[in-house]
Amino acid sequence: MTALYSEILLDHFRHPRNYGSLAAPDITCEDFNPLCGDRIKIELNLKHTVVEDVRFRGDGCAISVAAASLLTELIAGVDIKEVEAIPDERLISALESDIKPARVQCALLPLQALRTGLRDHKGQ
Ligand code: FES
Repeated sequence: MTALYSEILLDHFRHPRNYGSLAAPDITCEDFNPLCGDRIKIELNLKHTVVEDVRFRGDGCAISVAAASLLTELIAGVDIKEVEAIPDERLISALESDIKPARVQCALLPLQALRTGLRDHKGQ
């Protein structure tokens, strides 16, 4: 039998990686889940076009916090062109959990925040 939440998900929820804020972020990404009002904020510092440093803050559920934590690990040291191309499935599969359809929005909240922030940054 598969546990509802994987060890990876629980570990990232209990011990979120890259949690906090950057002193002077180059890009700030923020979004909220309209279904519950939970927010995730991701801050990036770039070196040229590569994510040099990343932090997140959020007060969401276990899935959204774990997904944000995992996402910061996925994008650290990665070119923002590749970051923009990360598909939903990559983050969902990284959670290694049985994410029910009603909770997919929780898992994708950090990725949506990131995409919004990168899009706004490009538009500047
Ligand atoms: Fe709010 Fe999951 S319940 S983000």
